[in-house]
Amino acid sequence: MPTRENIIKNLEVIFVPGVMRSPVKMNLVREVNIADNKVSVVLASAALNEDVQLWISNKIKEQLRNLPDIKEITVEYIDAKPSEVNRISNVIAVMSGKGGVGKSLVTALTAIALRRKGYEVGILDADITGPSIPKMFGITGHPGGSETAILPVTSKSGIEIMSINLLLPNEDEAVIWRGPLIAKTIMQFWGDVLWGNLDYLIVDLPPGTADAPLTVMQSLPVSGVIIVFTPQDLTAMIVRKAVNMTRQMNKPVLGIVENMSYLYVPEIKRKIELFGKSRGEEMARTTGAPLLGQLPIDPELAKLCDEGNIELYNTEVVGKLEESILQALKTS
Ligand SMILES: Nc1ncnc2c1ncn2[C@@H]1O[C@H](COP(=O)(O)OP(=O)(O)OP(=O)(O)O)[C@@H](O)[C@H]1O
Ligand SMILES: [Mg+2]
Repeated sequence: MPTRENIIKNLEVIFVPGVMRSPVKMNLVREVNIADNKVSVVLASAALNEDVQLWISNKIKEQLRNLPDIKEITVEYIDAKPSEVNRISNVIAVMSGKGGVGKSLVTALTAIALRRKGYEVGILDADITGPSIPKMFGITGHPGGSETAILPVTSKSGIEIMSINLLLPNEDEAVIWRGPLIAKTIMQFWGDVLWGNLDYLIVDLPPGTADAPLTVMQSLPVSGVIIVFTPQDLTAMIVRKAVNMTRQMNKPVLGIVENMSYLYVPEIKRKIELFGKSRGEEMARTTGAPLLGQLPIDPELAKLCDEGNIELYNTEVVGKLEESILQALKTS
């Protein structure tokens, strides 16, 4: 007779359409009973419509049929909300007091770094009025789901993504909402999306320290914050504000990332500090937060973002950023 572990192993190779994850990774398996040559599997129905439920049932039966001594297989569903199913170990928010400094980019690179290390990773795009994550990852598909819950969309490298842009009839549509509706949407992205088992959920925040960042900091179990800045004049004050807000909300600052730190010109083999002298070290000293990395202005990176191929970016600088983020997570 197969063991529970055997059954689970067999369920791990079934990929639910749309999300491309197994019912095990989605944390849907509630019970596996094996007795008298019968196997019964009970799954949570969260965010799965009837067609998908039937598809999974058939797939499970097909998959388990070949196991020795099994004469009967039943698959049942029980009602469960995503919030009862989701197991998210760490929530990391990426913020900045200022717009256009590269928050979404750092969100994406952090998620990619963790995914490359084999973690289960998701991105919650909390920038409701200016979402840019789907474009960077080249995602245009609409999320599946049921009447009460939504499935995230999976990127090419297996990162689960939810963004308002994926729900709009067309991506150029503007979202003109006031604070309360924005906060409600962020909470729905947290509670009504079937994230399943995630080691890390990275939250891309809109600029500033107003409504959306507050909602995220107050209502989500944020375990660490990454603050992004560029080497410009007003930056020092803005970074300190963001660090202070984070600490006032009793959330640990994982570290700071200086973006657009310099431009490297290969023809003359020189780094040019386009926005003024790099302030990475100084910021780290004055805020007491570790400097996780200094990203150059890289036309190749801008191109990959525009093409929706950010997952292909893999330079030495990114490797270093990956290492320091992993280190900061270990020691936080
Ligand atoms: N280091 C870089 N090299 C090249 N291009 C970059 C770099 N950082 C950011 N960009 C480009 O600048 C634009 C803005 O970056 P990004 O969207 O990450 O900023 P943001 O802080 O999230 O902006 P917003 O405040 O609008 O949310 C993007 O189109 C990105 O491609
Ligand atoms: Mg952004």
